[in-house]
Amino acid sequence: MSGRALICTRLGGPEELEVADVPEPAPGPGEVVVAVSHVGLNFHDTLIIAGTHVVRPEPPFSPGSEYAGTVVAVGDGVTSVGAGDRVAGNEEYGCARDTVLVRADRVTVLPEHVTDRQAAAILVAYSTAYHALVQRAGLRAGETLAVLGAAGGVGSAAVDVGNLLGARVIAGASTPERAESARRYGAHEVFSYGGTGEAGAAGTGDAKAAIKELTGGAGADVVFDPVGGAVAESAVRAVAWGGRYLVVGFASGGIPRVGLNIPLVKGSSVVGVFWGEFVRREREAHERNLRQIFDWAAAGRLRHHVHDVLPLDQGPRALRELANGRVRGKLLLRAGGPGG
Ligand SMILES: NC(=O)c1ccc[n+]([C@@H]2O[C@H](COP(=O)([O-])OP(=O)(O)OC[C@H]3O[C@@H](n4cnc5c(N)ncnc54)[C@H](OP(=O)(O)O)[C@@H]3O)[C@@H](O)[C@H]2O)c1
Repeated sequence: MSGRALICTRLGGPEELEVADVPEPAPGPGEVVVAVSHVGLNFHDTLIIAGTHVVRPEPPFSPGSEYAGTVVAVGDGVTSVGAGDRVAGNEEYGCARDTVLVRADRVTVLPEHVTDRQAAAILVAYSTAYHALVQRAGLRAGETLAVLGAAGGVGSAAVDVGNLLGARVIAGASTPERAESARRYGAHEVFSYGGTGEAGAAGTGDAKAAIKELTGGAGADVVFDPVGGAVAESAVRAVAWGGRYLVVGFASGGIPRVGLNIPLVKGSSVVGVFWGEFVRREREAHERNLRQIFDWAAAGRLRHHVHDVLPLDQGPRALRELANGRVRGKLLLRAGGPGG
């Protein structure tokens, strides 16, 4: 038996990716094989295939770091899941395939009311946002949360989760139109800070002025920043007294430089978020987070938006769209496994 896989044979842009037939894997002890129905794509996949992410696999490898599907084979000693279970999981890379071979203790069985498509669309973005806002920022109901890059995958999830946690959410994006789209995730107010969203062009604007204006001069209690660059250097000056600035990512390509005088005069904290490492080190806490997220999903309370679902062999096009900042919400690939 064989299946298709999206393969990075050479580090570079999405055009270097190929679709190839690969043999179906057999599970070793403690492993399971999952027939993948949906693969969730993330901005960091574009960095991994280019060799510019902290995770640097040697080609050939498959990109894609989250999936949902059905277990089709289990290895010796596996008791937590069985053949026929619908599951979802995340790996650093390797998920854009018709079947994946993964460790059984890295998959989560899906509740009945959460579809594969939903799970693949929310797992990484929502649990990153939840971990950042709950464990890292300690966001409280009634606080003001400012989200940058709020039209993107992780940003839109932060708007939604912030809203569900009872915060007043102000959402920023590079253009007024992209910012406006964040209202569909529950943003109470929106602002734009300039830049086009095209590679290398974002981050030219003034987030500080907009956040200050929307908070009556006080600043935001928590800033969620997956964008970095010049926008970050501006937004870090708009944190309220005692506030928390969440360093989530650098989608604009620029690592911001911030003087330590800023947290000093604001009594504020600059807080790093490394969700993948959190999942590795604190699996039980991660599973608790996921349960809350899947409960919200099952109850129809998440406002996540699927930008598009493309066939697996359209993977290069999908990653090009992500790299160019054109995606709003989540981009998925449909692989060959059963599951809607
Ligand atoms: N720390 C963690 O644990 C963790 C976990 C997951 C993801 N991340 C990081 O979070 C960041 C966002 O990930 P994502 O999956 O949400 O990506 P995404 O959906 O592509 O969103 C990124 C957002 O950044 C903005 N942006 C600014 N300049 C850009 C550029 N040159 N190219 C692309 N986008 C640009 C875009 O919004 P505007 O144009 O409107 O500004 C876009 O909506 C990435 O850096 C990723 O590596 C971190």
